[in-house]
Amino acid sequence: MDASSQAVAQTVRIDLDERGYDILIGRGLLDDPATWAALPGRADALIVTNTTVGPLYAARLRAALGERFARVHTVELPDGEAHKDWSTLNLIFDSLLARACDRKTVLFALGGGVVGDMAGFAAACYMRGVPFVQVPTTLLAQVDSSVGGKTAINHPLGKNMIGAFYQPQQVVCDLETLTTLPQRELIAGLAEVIKYGPIADMAFFDWIEANLAALLARDAAALAHAVRRSCEIKAWVVGQDEREGGLRAILNFGHTFGHAIESGLGYGQWLHGEAVGCGMVMAAHLSRALGLVDAALVDRVTRLIERAGLPVIGPALGTARYLELMRVDKKAEAGQIRFVVIEAPGRAGVRPATDAQVGEVLAACTR
Ligand code: NAD
Ligand code: GLY
Repeated sequence: MDASSQAVAQTVRIDLDERGYDILIGRGLLDDPATWAALPGRADALIVTNTTVGPLYAARLRAALGERFARVHTVELPDGEAHKDWSTLNLIFDSLLARACDRKTVLFALGGGVVGDMAGFAAACYMRGVPFVQVPTTLLAQVDSSVGGKTAINHPLGKNMIGAFYQPQQVVCDLETLTTLPQRELIAGLAEVIKYGPIADMAFFDWIEANLAALLARDAAALAHAVRRSCEIKAWVVGQDEREGGLRAILNFGHTFGHAIESGLGYGQWLHGEAVGCGMVMAAHLSRALGLVDAALVDRVTRLIERAGLPVIGPALGTARYLELMRVDKKAEAGQIRFVVIEAPGRAGVRPATDAQVGEVLAACTR
């Protein structure tokens, strides 16, 4: 596919009847008043951001929203996965209440997945629900976390364990914000882009293999295509299974192992995308151990993840510790861990595995 034709502003629709919304993808969207024209005006707006992204982009968003909203407030949260917790969430409620914000207030999540997940959860809870808009500024958030309405904070015993399904009013992916993203964060976002290949679209996987250098170099057209195709696939999944009754679980490919790495090492040691990248290698090995795919596919997935600059060997936490951590995964049923595996190239499903099979995988994939 020629990605050069994909660099202009585009819309992907999340089709959820009255909870449906558009994802806008383009450059310079933040400053363009037209971006915000569909939102209810004359209300309060609260920009929820963090101490890194706020100084870069909050003033621009504030100026654009100022034309439409009665008052525009900002709250800056501490930066990092380690702060995705109750006390940081409370800072959002403190800010809303101190300004006497009413139930028409619109929250704007300006930042990566951590800000987006927390602002979304705050919006779901404040006065039993106020509208919110996702303005994702990391690649990971633009291709995954801002879309689909999963909101949460972490618990010391498990990742994203406290949260709600709550859909935003719209998602605005301004690709220009990616220019300030540290390279390590860009690479972490590529993990969630790569994810869509083995679970849903091997033609997209081929395209990523062929365009990896352009993506790593932040070629505008390549990034635009990666964001758009990722959002299309996510829209297709979420449109069929909003609350993860079945199909949506495939979006967690690599996440069962990955979440264990994140919480096992302590939140923030490995980036979420790094843990997912390594977790996908483990999940591919498990798919092979279950007799679903051949070694060539496992090698191909591993090779792309490695070429992207993501870890393919996990920390040696020990099989017992991995199993303990994975038993609190949200897909577990009655203590039985269930894994997203590749059932065939471009198709995934959820299967149980024995502790011995998991142990084999960990022996091959940790050091
Ligand atoms: P993040 O939110 O921590 O952002 C990464 C870092 O980049 C932070 O330091 C941030 O301040 C900085 N940053 C953000 N945008 C920037 C920019 N434009 N320029 C410079 N710096 C910038 O991490 P993330 O990878 O975006 O998100 C990870 C989180 O998303 C995890 O908590 C994960 O659980 C969650 N997640 C949620 C879903 C979902 O469906 N809700 C899906 C995937 C991941
Ligand atoms: N990132 C997994 C999901 O949205 O379901």
